[in-house]
Amino acid sequence: LSHEDQNMLEAHEWLMKLYHHLLKHTKEGKDGLEYLKSRGMKDETIDQFQLGFAPDIKNFTASFLEKKGFSLQSMVKAGLLTDNRENKYIDRFQGRVIFPIRNHQGKTVAFGGRMIYQGEPKYLNSPETDIFHKGNVFYNFDLARNTIRKSGEAVLFEGYMDVISAYQAGVENGIATLGTSLTESQARLLRRYVDRVVICYDADSAGIEATKKAANILQNAGCYVKIAQLRQGMDPDDYIKTYGSESFREHVIGASITYMTFYLDYLKKDYNLQIESESMQYIEKALDEIAKLKKPFEIDYYLKELKDRFDISKEALQQEIAYRRRKFD
Ligand code: CTP
Ligand code: MN
Ligand code: MN
Ligand code: MN
Ligand code: MN
Repeated sequence: LSHEDQNMLEAHEWLMKLYHHLLKHTKEGKDGLEYLKSRGMKDETIDQFQLGFAPDIKNFTASFLEKKGFSLQSMVKAGLLTDNRENKYIDRFQGRVIFPIRNHQGKTVAFGGRMIYQGEPKYLNSPETDIFHKGNVFYNFDLARNTIRKSGEAVLFEGYMDVISAYQAGVENGIATLGTSLTESQARLLRRYVDRVVICYDADSAGIEATKKAANILQNAGCYVKIAQLRQGMDPDDYIKTYGSESFREHVIGASITYMTFYLDYLKKDYNLQIESESMQYIEKALDEIAKLKKPFEIDYYLKELKDRFDISKEALQQEIAYRRRKFD
């Protein structure tokens, strides 16, 4: 670790503690605490995830860091302050509830902040720095790692709020990417710990698109992928608020379906299968996806539905699969 990296880690450690203290014990943090309470967060959860609040004061963080002896220019590099045109150092996260982002060793390397007042963007994360590479870490991996290993399964969420809500609901193997889509490097990392991953993204069009992408990346890394389904328009946090923890564990996580079943269901919605030409297009698309499966028995399993539904011979379907697989190599 370079001297600069060490310096950045120290600044994050100080600020994590400062923001957490402000949230819990001061009038500057009162709005943040009220916000989190209004979203159903328990005190233990606030402690467990070391949540905090950055007061809505321009130079609060800068003067704190200065007193601790940090050079403010280096704190801009660390992504903690921004350098505005008049060359004043401003707190990057002001007015935001703070979610410390820890690396897999448990060291705070970045922050995520959620705006609680008027203002955009809703979420703001630290930028890429020498100690924070978004594409290589998962939110909450350090805490979830043991449960992931023991249960043989990880649950992948879209946002920190979902990870934390699920944790409160008794799902302790939840992780999230950090405002970006899942990368191959993250998938490889996960594969070292588990072979089963449940994707539980938001049930909106963005979430469904992201689910397809993440599922493909995870499958290519050798993971067995399941999809947890929420009511239209909901995210995991909304679901837990509305239907409770037990329902979430049983009817969402516990009832997750294989990726292929999910995919074929969605695909069906795009085509009118009463019309011959649309059926042909559906079959083409379905075969494209089925051909990506690694295990022969899985391929057979999903071909069976096409065979029965459209009365196509097994031989013809298998030829189609073989043809597609030759193109992959
Ligand atoms: N995100 C982001 N910037 C935004 C919106 C979202 O980086 N402007 C990222 C954040 O990491 C967030 C995730 O995408 O956690 C999921 O986004 P969204 O579904 O909008 O967030 P929620 O967790 O549902 O937020 P909330 O319930 O607080 O509205
Ligand atoms: Mn590095
Ligand atoms: Mn979303
Ligand atoms: Mn959401
Ligand atoms: Mn939400």
